[in-house]
Amino acid sequence: MKYHVLTLFPEMIEAGFNNSITGRAVSDGKLQLETVNIRDYTKDKHKSVDDYTYGGGAGMLMQAQPVYDAFCSLKVKEDTPVIYLSPVGEVFNQKMAEELSKSDDIVFLCGHYEGIDDRVIDKIVTKRVSIGDYVLTGGELPALVMMDTISRLVPGVLGNNESAMTESFDDYLLEYPQYSRPEEWEGERVPSILLSGDHKKIEEWRLEESIKRTKKYRPDLYEKWAEAHPEYFEALEKKRRKAEEKARKAKLKEKTKANT
Ligand code: ADE
Repeated sequence: MKYHVLTLFPEMIEAGFNNSITGRAVSDGKLQLETVNIRDYTKDKHKSVDDYTYGGGAGMLMQAQPVYDAFCSLKVKEDTPVIYLSPVGEVFNQKMAEELSKSDDIVFLCGHYEGIDDRVIDKIVTKRVSIGDYVLTGGELPALVMMDTISRLVPGVLGNNESAMTESFDDYLLEYPQYSRPEEWEGERVPSILLSGDHKKIEEWRLEESIKRTKKYRPDLYEKWAEAHPEYFEALEKKRRKAEEKARKAKLKEKTKANT
């Protein structure tokens, strides 16, 4: 996989990417990174790349020409995805990352100021992508977020101990809690089931914890999961009703005992 990043801040992309797991993958030749400084392609004698927006309004806009020329300097196939990072775009998610991880090359276009002249975006970009409903100062951090997410899905990027499977967002569920040594820390013990060696029970416990967490933190995902697994959802509901009934009976018994 080769990433090509068109940016005014190549050092920001390089510093963010050439570290940790992605940095190791670059050294191992599993990933490649090319950054192109858009400013190198301006024809302006002051090296300026931005100008006022037609129609008025606050802020400056990146001009079409340097962006286009920077793009034309890349050696990529015609069907290469070209992504423009912007709050005006399809929201990035794990599924999009999985699709993009199958490409040999991806181009990221990072805007600054108030954005980029829309004509060049229309001409070169295949997808406008947002990383969430908030506004950043530029596209570099969103590009890094996407590159990091995609990279860990590229075969060979994660080591054997860094599995890309069974993690948050597989099948709509968030990941279950995990613990490492020691068995007891600050008076808190690791759940005993995890020390039992009973793999089937551990799997069941993990699934239940995933479901609980998803319901608590991401009710939107929980609903999707429940729709996709009606049989499991029904069984859980039955279990929950049974536990509620048991608790109600115990309370009643307690009350009766107290009154006699
Ligand atoms: N540029 C500024 N804000 C952004 C966002 N939320 N997503 C992608 N690119 C952006």
